This record gives sequence, C-alpha cells and structure tokens, in this order.
Amino acid sequence: MEVKINEMGSEVVDGFLCKPKDFDPNRPIMHYKTIIMICDDERCSKAGKIDKSAQLREILKDMGLNKGENRIKITRTGCYGACRFRQVAQVVENTQANGEPKNNALWLKHTHQYSETEWRNIFRILSEGKILKDELGEDAFIPMKVYN
Ligand code: FES
Repeated sequence: MEVKINEMGSEVVDGFLCKPKDFDPNRPIMHYKTIIMICDDERCSKAGKIDKSAQLREILKDMGLNKGENRIKITRTGCYGACRFRQVAQVVENTQANGEPKNNALWLKHTHQYSETEWRNIFRILSEGKILKDELGEDAFIPMKVYN
C-alpha cells in the first residue's frame, strides 16, 4: 500500500487526506506569509456555487505557494456581515514572521466573479510582496468607514 505524506511531512492515516498518524498536540503550525479567509457562509457560498477554497488550494499547489516562505493559506470563515459584497475574502498577513504589513486586513469583494487567472495574479502579487491596492485598484476592495 502506498504511504501518503501530508504537506507537513507526516505520514497520513488511511482514508484521510492529511490526518497525521503520529499526533503531536504541541507541534507548531506551518508558517504562512498570508492567509486568505474566504467567506463560506450561506449567502457567499451560494454566490460561489463551488467549493472555492479547494479550488484555490489546488492553484496554490500548482504555483508552489502551498509551502515555503511565501506560503499562502486558504481558510473558510462564517459571515462577515458584509454579504452585499459577496463573496467576501479577507487578506491577513503574518506580521509576526514578516514584519511591516503591506496588505493586511484588506477585504476583497465579489471574488465569486474572479477567474482562475485573476486568482493567480493575486497570489503572485502577494508572494512577490507587492501592494495589492496598487496592482488591483481601490475598486477591488470593500470600502471601510473610518471613525475619528
Ligand atoms: S455570508 Fe459572506 S459576508 Fe455574509
């Protein structure tokens, strides 16, 4: 039988995709440069129609950004309370590992309309440490009201 190894380098339990055979509750999580939290709650997921997170993870694998110093992690979230901008995706940078943020706390809007090419472009911009707003323009993001 073929031995499956997950992205953390651990042998996987039969019948699972990534569950490690040797479970260590204190094992550190894998480094990420950026995490994209894509809303998978009722309204956004209906707009997305497909499991967007699985599709995005495949693209990241193909681009070699599923591991290493420029790793981009995709995770699903519940409702942000910004459903009118569905499908909402928040960009969060790992400032603990990478210092000064460039794209932290940006909320992408209408990502269900993005093509694979557009996602690849976003992943490239993030991995190269460029500024998303410069590359995509203000209109790609959910406007945020600032209170003084
Ligand atoms: S369901 Fe996605 S922001 Fe509300």
